[in-house]
Amino acid sequence: MPKYDGRPPASQSAATPGPSAAGQVTVLGPVPEAEAAAVLRLADAAARVDGVGPFSEHVLLHLKYGGDAGARNLLLTAGGELAGYAHLDPAPSAELVVHPAHRRQGLGLRLIRELEGRTDPSAGPFRAGPLRVWAHGDLPAATGLAAAAGFERVRALWQMRRSLREPVARPQFGEGVTLRTFAGGRDADEWLRVNSRAFADHPEQGSWTREDLGLREREPWFDPDGFFLAERGGKLVGFHWTKIHPEEPLGEVYIVGIDPDERGTGLGRALTLAGLRYLRERGLPEVMLYVDESNAPAIRLYESLGFARRRTDVMFAQARKFEQTEAGVAGITPST
Ligand SMILES: CC(C)(COP(=O)(O)OP(=O)(O)OC[C@H]1O[C@@H](n2cnc3c(N)ncnc32)[C@H](O)[C@@H]1OP(=O)(O)O)[C@@H](O)C(=O)NCCC(=O)NCCS
Repeated sequence: MPKYDGRPPASQSAATPGPSAAGQVTVLGPVPEAEAAAVLRLADAAARVDGVGPFSEHVLLHLKYGGDAGARNLLLTAGGELAGYAHLDPAPSAELVVHPAHRRQGLGLRLIRELEGRTDPSAGPFRAGPLRVWAHGDLPAATGLAAAAGFERVRALWQMRRSLREPVARPQFGEGVTLRTFAGGRDADEWLRVNSRAFADHPEQGSWTREDLGLREREPWFDPDGFFLAERGGKLVGFHWTKIHPEEPLGEVYIVGIDPDERGTGLGRALTLAGLRYLRERGLPEVMLYVDESNAPAIRLYESLGFARRRTDVMFAQARKFEQTEAGVAGITPST
């Protein structure tokens, strides 16, 4: 997840009359509690109809904690109620939803046009390049809207799952590699260093800062006992951060990162197994993970460990700009 350039937050509340579809869009920097609650209710209503929630953990966290300084929140009201919402990050990337009762009235397209109008790098914290929009669940409505807006499918992220009812093999760590768990602040800098090396091709994950790490450490689910660090000679060489979703209940391979110098040594497999055994010992029946559709080595590893694809999240990008800056379009991880 990218961090921002320190410019001041968005105009606090700029109401703009819509160019086409009815409704009014209000743009906020931080989202006040009452508005955030209304957005979360809207997301729940959409999830009930779509069978999948419209937002990543990243957007949900920022709604919960008031928002990131560089993010913009677009609230679309129609008929006196919240009918749509879009979250815009400086990448620039966005996630958006229209309430099921207000669909097929042009509001989705309206939100996309509003987003496009707000990503000028000279007028805010936005990076140059095509606007990207994440759609969770690969639903026909999202594909239809993307096509109508002139966006192309540029990336996809798989959610894979496996049962934990069957035993998990014992991990085999290489000579000289030791395993321990995350010890808080004193491990932070070293973890950030290896995370950025491991995800050099996935800037949204690889550019995490202390603040991104700290946000997760403050979450009720955070448990250092499930955050494994592999070291060689006292130096961090890889990690497996697990997560537990108690309400489902479900384990997650939250992030596995291996230092590029250690790849091909079996460390990824060993670390993944160590985390899976931990989740199984905690009594969880199932485990999931997110992996980029193009990450063939990782998918092979996870398939060999019994994972199968459950769901796909798709990233669409403005087609014309995408052609111009293809090399610049990379990594974003909605699970994070
Ligand atoms: C995707 C979503 C935002 C669309 O919102 P919407 O307000 O219904 O979309 P619009 O009315 O603006 O539709 C504009 C065009 O998109 C296409 N479209 C929208 N919904 C569609 C559907 N269910 N099937 C096929 N095409 C569809 C059509 O071309 C439509 O034009 P038309 O109505 O004249 O045929 C909404 O279904 C939603 O919130 N889904 C869950 C969240 C999500 O997937 N977000 C990612 C969006 S990329």
